[in-house]
Amino acid sequence: MGKQGSPRSQSALRFLDGLTNVKKLSFTMKNCQNRCLDAGRRTFGGNCSCWSKRILLHGLKNDKTHLNVSKGTSSGKRHMMLYKHARSIIFVFGLMGTFFLLNSLIISIVHCLNLPNGLQPQRKVNILQDDRIDVNVEKEPRVMYKRLLNLASRALAKNQFRQDAPTLWKEPYKQASAWKPCANKLDPSKQGETMKSNGYILVSANGGLNQQRVAVCNAVAVASLLNATLVLPRFLYSSVWKDASQFGDIYQEEYFLNLLKDDVSIVKELPLHMQSLDFKAIGSLITDSDIMKESKPIHFVNLVLPLLLRNGVVHLLGFGNRLGFDPMPFKLQRLRCKCNFHALKFVPKIQQVSSLLVRRIRKYGATRSLLDTQLLGKFMPSVPLKQHDMSRGPSKYLALHLRFEMDMVAYSLCDFGGGENERKELQGYREIHFPTLLARMKDTDTIFRAPVNENAFRLPSPADLRKMGRCPLTPEEAALMLSALGYKHGTYIYLAGSQIYGEKSRMLPFTSLYPNLVTKEDLLTPSELAPFRNFSSQLAALDFIACATADVFAMTDSGSQLSSLVTGYRTYYGGGHAPTLRPNKKRFAKILSGNDTIEWNDFEERVRRMIEEGQRVRLRRLGRSIYRQPRCPECMCKMQ
Ligand SMILES: *[C@@H]1O[C@H](CO)[C@@H](O)[C@H](O)[C@H]1NC(C)=O
Ligand SMILES: *[C@@H]1O[C@H](CO)[C@@H](O)[C@H](O)[C@H]1NC(C)=O
Ligand SMILES: *[C@@H]1O[C@H](CO)[C@@H](O)[C@H](O)[C@H]1NC(C)=O
Repeated sequence: MGKQGSPRSQSALRFLDGLTNVKKLSFTMKNCQNRCLDAGRRTFGGNCSCWSKRILLHGLKNDKTHLNVSKGTSSGKRHMMLYKHARSIIFVFGLMGTFFLLNSLIISIVHCLNLPNGLQPQRKVNILQDDRIDVNVEKEPRVMYKRLLNLASRALAKNQFRQDAPTLWKEPYKQASAWKPCANKLDPSKQGETMKSNGYILVSANGGLNQQRVAVCNAVAVASLLNATLVLPRFLYSSVWKDASQFGDIYQEEYFLNLLKDDVSIVKELPLHMQSLDFKAIGSLITDSDIMKESKPIHFVNLVLPLLLRNGVVHLLGFGNRLGFDPMPFKLQRLRCKCNFHALKFVPKIQQVSSLLVRRIRKYGATRSLLDTQLLGKFMPSVPLKQHDMSRGPSKYLALHLRFEMDMVAYSLCDFGGGENERKELQGYREIHFPTLLARMKDTDTIFRAPVNENAFRLPSPADLRKMGRCPLTPEEAALMLSALGYKHGTYIYLAGSQIYGEKSRMLPFTSLYPNLVTKEDLLTPSELAPFRNFSSQLAALDFIACATADVFAMTDSGSQLSSLVTGYRTYYGGGHAPTLRPNKKRFAKILSGNDTIEWNDFEERVRRMIEEGQRVRLRRLGRSIYRQPRCPECMCKMQ
């Protein structure tokens, strides 16, 4: 998914047919193309997001060529010359045609995109209501909110030539900028103290990149708590992530050791004489079933310390989510923040390619913020390398973490309007992957028929689940949210995450509203991606960086670890200028339940209020993750 080839654009166009007229659209596109290619993005009041799906992407791709060329191959230079030539020719012709037609053009676009509901051609209805979809065959758009989508389409057409609302790329609350990074402050009580180690702690962290990150920083805190020496954490190989990367493949080891050297003792390897120990046999193996989720520090003192003192070593295996957030001594909380926000730096290999990625999507080659500096280090120049960058400034982009993967969709037990075929497909998936869930479902079925046992676990119905806000947002819902907030049709959107369930059929409603959607696979060449191919965690690091450095970051699932860590990072380093859009699924479901009647203005207003609610500046609440909500005295300092 995520490829920007023309098939998608074609069907996206067909999808828009109901609102436009193909002839006019393609005519518009040609003119637009000329203007876009030459006059740059500044035509049309600062944004050449003309009606072209292909064109803008084309522009983006060209920029890629551009960047490749600047790497200096001579054939590349020849290409460049030709390209520039062609551009000038197109320009001259374009100019002649364009000015002539400009007036009638704008009028016709606006006119044809404002067709009242009743005037929509029949054909579109057919596309949208076709239920005879074979799940395995090339798909038609799968749409749940036809009416809202049409309204969104029209609203985007109307907004096309307007200035962006000033709030669009900003955080709404000024107080956000009062909070500054603070976890790096040295702890005076620790200075010069020689710690006697109670033994070694070995950690083998499971999960993907982001779970591991949390595990590493929790391990640092536990080692400090127990006056133990931490062995550089190991990452377990999992059949899901299929990535053998170790700590040093993802994070800069020396930097990590050095930054934390005054806080906790960390070594790279267990001493030789301990390496051959059978941890299980000596009782030093502690798995996740031995410790409760989000345990208090005292549990570690009671359970782990005695073993540590007896055997000189313990092995924490898995270590997902085992250390809670409250209560927690100030010092340890700060240490976790220092670890997460300061000590973990991605290796140069990741920084370098991420910097390419970010430069290409921004079309700009210099550091813009503290977030850039922290994440990309020396690989992002501090001043623009190219003259035109300086005059033009970077393109804004929105990064979207869209969580609509098959396993999530199947597990949710929600209904996504895909009819019988989709239900069967999801049920088939559950049979293979979630047998226990299925067993529960069977129980529920019998309960519905004959409610004998009052205490039997009852699964909520798909409609209830939706009301409760338990259903992953579809790409369509994400697009509706963005359009309600006023993001324009031409907005550059970086899509993070993996395989979208339903792929094209699910993405079409999204790309019809927002065609300028790119992924790392679009922005990087196969050879640039090759070193990351077999390393899903390293690929995830690219997504992490592209999301954290985005002008706006939008998520569809606040429970996801990537979204959560990126949010925290943007809060910590964003200085109040790194907005994050976090929909409240329950509230959004309520808004969407009126999809057949709600006025577009009303929809916009309610979505905006929902998002602003999520952006309120408040202290981290009790029990909440400091990695996601670092606004607390342990991590950040509030300026008066
Ligand atoms: C760790 O060391 C500090 C200071 O040296 C001491 O106060 C604390 O009791 C020790 N904790 C453990 C669990 O050994
Ligand atoms: C990735 O793994 C495949 C099979 O496991 C192997 O053939 C290929 O060479 C690997 N590629 C890289 C870049 O390591
Ligand atoms: C859309 O509106 C219809 C009619 O009010 C309603 O029955 C349906 O549940 C709504 N869809 C969703 C997903 O909320």
